[in-house]
Amino acid sequence: MSFWDLRPCDGHDCFAERASFRYGKEPWLRLAFEEVARHSCILEIGCGQGTDAIEICRRMKGGGRYVGVDQSTMSIASARRSLAESEPIGVSPQFQAGDATKLAFAEATFDAIYSMGVLHHVDDTRAAIAEIRRVLRPGGRAYVALYNRNSVKLAAALALRKLQTAADAALGTDRLMLSLARSFPIEKWFGTALLECFGVPILKAYDRDQIHDLFRDFEVEAVDRCGSFGSFWFTRAWRRS
Ligand SMILES: C[S@@+](CC[C@H](N)C(=O)[O-])C[C@H]1O[C@@H](n2cnc3c(N)ncnc32)[C@H](O)[C@@H]1O
Repeated sequence: MSFWDLRPCDGHDCFAERASFRYGKEPWLRLAFEEVARHSCILEIGCGQGTDAIEICRRMKGGGRYVGVDQSTMSIASARRSLAESEPIGVSPQFQAGDATKLAFAEATFDAIYSMGVLHHVDDTRAAIAEIRRVLRPGGRAYVALYNRNSVKLAAALALRKLQTAADAALGTDRLMLSLARSFPIEKWFGTALLECFGVPILKAYDRDQIHDLFRDFEVEAVDRCGSFGSFWFTRAWRRS
């Protein structure tokens, strides 16, 4: 069972509690949603428990289609429960299991692709970005948030991961700090952020030049530093023909 199956991103099983926790910590996301929701056929890659999907669908006043994929089937099940818990919304998102590096959609299917905090956990991030390009229509927009390696949060997370590796090597343990963190009720304050730092198999982070390089086959409109402690790069890019 994958890390995200054991604890879907952000924790907080109740949708309303999770949304309040999430947008309290990352208020900039709601501004981004206004822009994403202007499109009418949207794919979200790594939708987790569907929190952003539901918020974006609320804003899709002109109707349309929204598909959220995630490789964690437990997250997809939780996203479906969240939809049932939330107030009725105009566009009802479809949630389905899927892999960012092998999207089950034809070329040029979507007007927009949104992905928040996902592709830095994927082994082959370049393959996932090539898939974004493939399934976007020419002129379609990609909105992708990836970790910023030059932020306090990421520097701390990467240092803690190294500390855990050293402790495991010295004591013969398997992810000692993850086990310790799991024994405290930290989710209320940190969501899954600390567990992610110790437990997620892949955690990458980028500087601005590396982001431009990842999106070199796109027309990049902006790479903005966002999030608490500037921990994300939020890239807006569009697919040339
Ligand atoms: C940090 S969580 C972010 C979830 C959601 N975007 C959010 O912000 O709440 C990372 C998510 O990426 C998903 N994920 C990781 N690798 C993936 C892959 N190759 N394909 C699809 N989803 C993936 C995980 O299952 C997890 O739900």
